[in-house]
Amino acid sequence: MNLVYLDHAATSWPKPREILDAARDASVHAGGNPGRGAHPLSDAASGLLYSAREEAASFFGGIPERTVFTSGATCSLNIAIRGLVRPGDHILFDNLVHNAVLRPIRALEAAGLCTSDFYDASGSDGELMESLRAKAGPRTRLVIATHQSNICSRILPIREIGRFCRERGLLFVVDAAQSGGHLPISLPEDGIDALCLPGHKGLMGLPGVGLLLLSDRARCDPLLFGGAGIRSEDPGMPEELPERLEAGTLPLPAIASVAAGIRLIRKTGLDAIRRHEEKLSALFAEGIGRMGRYRIAGESRGGVVSILHETVSPAAIGTCLAEQGICVRTGYHCAPLAHRTLGTEKQGTVRVSFGLSNTAQDIERILNVLNEIDEF
Ligand code: ALA
Repeated sequence: MNLVYLDHAATSWPKPREILDAARDASVHAGGNPGRGAHPLSDAASGLLYSAREEAASFFGGIPERTVFTSGATCSLNIAIRGLVRPGDHILFDNLVHNAVLRPIRALEAAGLCTSDFYDASGSDGELMESLRAKAGPRTRLVIATHQSNICSRILPIREIGRFCRERGLLFVVDAAQSGGHLPISLPEDGIDALCLPGHKGLMGLPGVGLLLLSDRARCDPLLFGGAGIRSEDPGMPEELPERLEAGTLPLPAIASVAAGIRLIRKTGLDAIRRHEEKLSALFAEGIGRMGRYRIAGESRGGVVSILHETVSPAAIGTCLAEQGICVRTGYHCAPLAHRTLGTEKQGTVRVSFGLSNTAQDIERILNVLNEIDEF
């Protein structure tokens, strides 16, 4: 069956050839363990790892030595949140957060290490900033923002939030799981202290890699302890970054694929990717608007659009779409607070998410099936 893949918010697919080639080349020509030997394959691995670090750092305006590879965005967020928080701190986060933000905070609270509250991202950017200002108190130390929701196309004004954090001396963590590789992000210009994102979504790499880019004021403690390739005699993790936060062997083929993804994005142009996704989401939203009994949850001008039907459940719609070879995500999307904010907590949504590989024909195909469901 000819698949229509509209689940890029979960992971990108198909992986472009350049990305698969980069992973294979790394396995063949740089198959040693980086930083763990002096033989040619280990040296080649170290060289490839450093160039991938440079590629990622320059794409997001970071510093190569403070660009850390993790196992995914969830891991990056756990390290950033747990590693930056000090006992007694107060954390502020938006009400569109994913569980990768919410659960680490809840765990810290349960251990009595911090308190937290959310600021309201359901209205305009101005209202969001008002809510943030009103909730920031003397113990607030960390502000977290979901750059783009994983349920709808709501994009938070990270530059404004970053400026606010700088003025107040707060640390700013950005969850860019849905925006990395889709929207422009700059560590210094957006005032970000910890940028957390996956390698397999917008950056189009293989799964198994996340990025954590730290500003020079972010003093982040490790979450994982183990071999780092340097200072092997010391009982604790080395002070130096990135090794301090990179215990264990890194998945170099997947890291090489992420670097290839970044090169592909540079070649295609971030603006062109964004325009393409906005065009597709507009086409989709127009088509939905013409049908009688669907509604769109939250914002729809971007890479992610969620819909609901008056009578047919998201799960039933998902089954019909899957039978026709159309891949979307349905139900809950690991973001319970966001579902409450968007009023979709009863059954979740049908989430349609776009990527570079999608075409107007893909939109036509999904709209045809959704229309049949609506008219049934
Ligand atoms: N966090 C990913 C999603 O939203 C997996 O689907």
